[in-house]
Amino acid sequence: MGARLYNVIGIKISILFLFCFSGKFEGKFLSQGKECNSSTYGEDCNKSCSDHCAGDTNSCNHVNGTCDEGCDIGYLMPLCTEKCNSSTYGEDCNKNCSDHCAGDTNSCNHVNGTCDQGCDSGYVMPLCTESKSARQELLIITVLSYH
Ligand SMILES: *[C@@H]1O[C@H](CO)[C@@H](O)[C@H](O)[C@H]1NC(C)=O
Ligand SMILES: *[C@@H]1O[C@H](CO)[C@@H](O)[C@H](O)[C@H]1NC(C)=O
Ligand SMILES: *[C@@H]1O[C@H](CO)[C@@H](O)[C@H](O)[C@H]1NC(C)=O
Ligand SMILES: *[C@@H]1O[C@H](CO)[C@@H](O)[C@H](O)[C@H]1NC(C)=O
Ligand SMILES: *[C@@H]1O[C@H](CO)[C@@H](O)[C@H](O)[C@H]1NC(C)=O
Ligand SMILES: *[C@@H]1O[C@H](CO)[C@@H](O)[C@H](O)[C@H]1NC(C)=O
Repeated sequence: MGARLYNVIGIKISILFLFCFSGKFEGKFLSQGKECNSSTYGEDCNKSCSDHCAGDTNSCNHVNGTCDEGCDIGYLMPLCTEKCNSSTYGEDCNKNCSDHCAGDTNSCNHVNGTCDQGCDSGYVMPLCTESKSARQELLIITVLSYH
């Protein structure tokens, strides 16, 4: 009788233990340790990868949000949430707006480098890197070479 009672209590205690531990495992080690899906990141997976992460799925690192396939053209690594600053453009913002973009800041479009305020005189849109005389020479050479 005494042994049986111990046994029943033992089983109850075991079940209680199992219950607590599995709860703990599920709560702590599964929900918090689980990787976020490919479009979210951060401790609670409550941050979204940037829409400007390159690639069809815009996927990013599940811990720090660094885009897996780099940024769309005109956006700054690692998060691809920021545009290139006003004096740079292109892939990884590695091109400079032309010094011959008009205006004090020589600013240009962050994706394609087209100068925001046109060109200084003597230069040709859209990039304002080519001078008008060079363009004319090129035209003349092209025309002449056809003769
Ligand atoms: C990722 O999880 C978020 C929030 O839980 C959800 O809105 C989104 O659709 C999921 N994305 C994928 C690719 O499973
Ligand atoms: C994500 O969750 C954390 C902690 O719960 C909170 O501090 C943070 O503001 C949340 N971030 C967003 C973008 O909701
Ligand atoms: C984000 O994590 C990945 C993988 O650990 C790492 O390669 C990358 O350098 C990290 N990015 C930043 C900005 O820390
Ligand atoms: C833009 O970024 C480049 C490269 O990081 C830097 O040299 C330049 O000073 C920045 N320009 C502005 C206007 O912030
Ligand atoms: C862009 O300008 C920065 C300084 O203003 C210079 O360090 C860098 O080499 C330039 N990049 C290119 C591609 O010309
Ligand atoms: C550059 O992009 C801007 C904004 O989308 C657009 O207005 C402009 O026509 C583009 N320039 C070229 C040369 O494609």
